[in-house]
Amino acid sequence: MDAIISPSNGFQLDTQLPGDKSISHRAALIAALAEGESTITNYSNGRDCLSTLNCLKQLGIKIETSQNELKISGKGLKGFQAPSEPLDCGNSGTTARLLAGVLAGQNFDSILTGDESLSGRPMQRIIDPLCLMGADIRGTSSGTLPLTIRGKKLKSIEFSMPVASAQVKSCLLLAGLLAEGKTIIREAIPTRDHTERMLHNVTIEHHETFADISIRGGVPIAPKNISIPADLSSAAFFIVAGLLTSNSDICLRNVTLNPTRTAFLDVLESAGALISIENKSEMHSEPVGDIRIISQTRHFKPLQLSGNIIPRIIDEIPILAIFGTRAGIEIKDAKELRYKETDRIHAIVTNLRAMKLRVDEFDDGFKVFPSMLHGASIDSYGDHRIAMSFAVAGSIADGTTMINNSECVNISFPNFFNYFQSSVAMSLQ
Ligand code: S3P
Repeated sequence: MDAIISPSNGFQLDTQLPGDKSISHRAALIAALAEGESTITNYSNGRDCLSTLNCLKQLGIKIETSQNELKISGKGLKGFQAPSEPLDCGNSGTTARLLAGVLAGQNFDSILTGDESLSGRPMQRIIDPLCLMGADIRGTSSGTLPLTIRGKKLKSIEFSMPVASAQVKSCLLLAGLLAEGKTIIREAIPTRDHTERMLHNVTIEHHETFADISIRGGVPIAPKNISIPADLSSAAFFIVAGLLTSNSDICLRNVTLNPTRTAFLDVLESAGALISIENKSEMHSEPVGDIRIISQTRHFKPLQLSGNIIPRIIDEIPILAIFGTRAGIEIKDAKELRYKETDRIHAIVTNLRAMKLRVDEFDDGFKVFPSMLHGASIDSYGDHRIAMSFAVAGSIADGTTMINNSECVNISFPNFFNYFQSSVAMSLQ
């Protein structure tokens, strides 16, 4: 399906967006490992989070859905049942990597598969440390899905993370839950910490240049009642749309404000954007608040981003690239973007050039020279964040923008175009 987008006269929204994708995956997996029934409200309605639920069902976990609520009957750390077929993780890297950690320590064998995009993404980064824990996992010769996992008794390890990845860290924390003894993960560059916040047997020691995150294995998990805050990475598209259009007034309620996720807001503020946060509170160990954006006539400053901040803005770089078309943006140290749902550096550079911008491409980033965007035919590469970022680009461009395969937004944000349509003349064809 193609999305045809015309310039916007301003965004007016006052709403609570769907639940955070990262927190939703973790809530479902941890509820399945708990002993008894957990209730989760505002679980993400994206396809990725459904992939996690489908895999859990295949593992014998009872999940009841009603309205905005899930009831998950956890069976304890080793209560899963052997699946009769391969577990399909769809497009979801979080499902594949976190579930691999759980399956490595079960008493049965399993196979993880995924769609074409996921089947090209690196899995050696979880296979290596899990094997150090005693797991038996095989991928393809290039270290990709399908993964064949032979359940084993796991032992604890001390492991320094070679790449900054919350998925790898969370995979090892979940495996550590099933292992004997204390697993210690050393993280030099901080990444999102939702797993640590949700598991009560995790301790964190902060040192000057790294943190040691430890988990004791074999400790039973109590069921939880969790309400998932709205997804800041989804809110990001409307925040930038509101900043770059006139006549906009946007209030996004109950959004996660976890400090490992909010660097995107800090970056916008450092460029001169005014963002107000209201009604701050705490929901199940996660800080939340309402984000308010009003159109801004000010000139923004150019951005240069590299180093330790990159993992904390990794999912927002595509939409930051669109923000950067106003005053310029340079991104370095972000090679990880090449291993996401698509090669996002290539997708950003190619599509901005199609919109007549000058953009330099680096191995680990890109530089956008500020200028007016012109409507163009955009390739989403089947990547949800590329499709949504360029929908926002279309709303501030002159002329009409067409985005192919736009249904890929369903991966994280199925209602994206419904919200968008209230402020932009557009059609889906
Ligand atoms: C995620 C971690 C990040 C992020 C992804 C979600 C998570 O991936 O890009 O969208 O939920 O842990 P990496 O761990 O590969 O950096």
